[in-house]
Amino acid sequence: VRKIGVLTSGGDAPGMNAAIRSVVRAGLYYGFRVYGIRKGYEGLINGDVEELNARSVGDILHKGGTILQTARSPRFTTEEGQKKAVSMANVFDLDAVVVIGGDGSHRGARDLSRHGVNVIGIPGTIDNDIGSTDYTIGFDTALNTVQDALDKIRDTAYSHERCSILEVMGRHAGYIALNVGISGGAEAVILPEIAGSLDIDKDVIKPIIEARNRGKKHYIVIVAEGAEGKAIEIERAVTEKTGLEARATILGHIQRGGSPTVHDRVTASVMGVKAVEVLMNGGKNRVIAIKNGKLVDIDIDEALEMKKSLDEEMIKICKILSL
Ligand code: F6P
Repeated sequence: VRKIGVLTSGGDAPGMNAAIRSVVRAGLYYGFRVYGIRKGYEGLINGDVEELNARSVGDILHKGGTILQTARSPRFTTEEGQKKAVSMANVFDLDAVVVIGGDGSHRGARDLSRHGVNVIGIPGTIDNDIGSTDYTIGFDTALNTVQDALDKIRDTAYSHERCSILEVMGRHAGYIALNVGISGGAEAVILPEIAGSLDIDKDVIKPIIEARNRGKKHYIVIVAEGAEGKAIEIERAVTEKTGLEARATILGHIQRGGSPTVHDRVTASVMGVKAVEVLMNGGKNRVIAIKNGKLVDIDIDEALEMKKSLDEEMIKICKILSL
């Protein structure tokens, strides 16, 4: 019987459990034995591996985080660490390892593949910043978490006639900031992707004053964590230049937790089955992706060369609607 390992790596994302469950159950359905590797590549190096059955993944579909736990493993970035991980994959006789994680985890999977371990990547990160796929598991849940927080912040911003500045995650990308900028009706959205230096007067102060002159009673500014301006600096500038009270909120890790949305559960489930079917069909070193609405698998080296960028049309829509 062929054996598959499954691990989650990098930052956790809601829906990772749904993906683990899907890999395990599809694996069993197709006659594989499936092994859970704890704490990502670190666990693989340490041989922290246990066989899973259909019941091991019961009652996890709706849970945030990852039952396998996760890590960002500095040891695995070294040649020595990678060789240890490979020898452990051989100890457990794994024919393939399914890696659920973000861009760095996919790069780790490629490193494993270069040492002869067959890998299949499943994109899981709240940042939605993997070039090979239009969508990453966890993004929708994170958006809804941020939106919920923003709605609450808006209530208090209105009551005090304040400006609220919300710093959201996304690492170097502005997918969360842009989408919530649209769904939350922000006056200004500061994105890492907008080239050139941030002009606080033009990009933040002017839209706020214009909104005030139109009779607005509260103001929302969204700042992506990877953008040039920091929420605290913007808070200070708004207070000094507009006379409004301003409050910065850094949402932090609340954005990574919580029960996955239907969209994330379904996407994770579909991608998990696809990963196993790719292995069934003899696929080697592939990543699962959604491209133009279709579920596809792509060679891992090609996938890691692929780039994507924020939709210009969405940036324009965000600006038009903030008027
Ligand atoms: O990649 C997910 C993410 O939450 C990013 O948005 C953020 O930059 C980073 O992870 C934070 O990492 P950590 O949890 O290790 O502080």
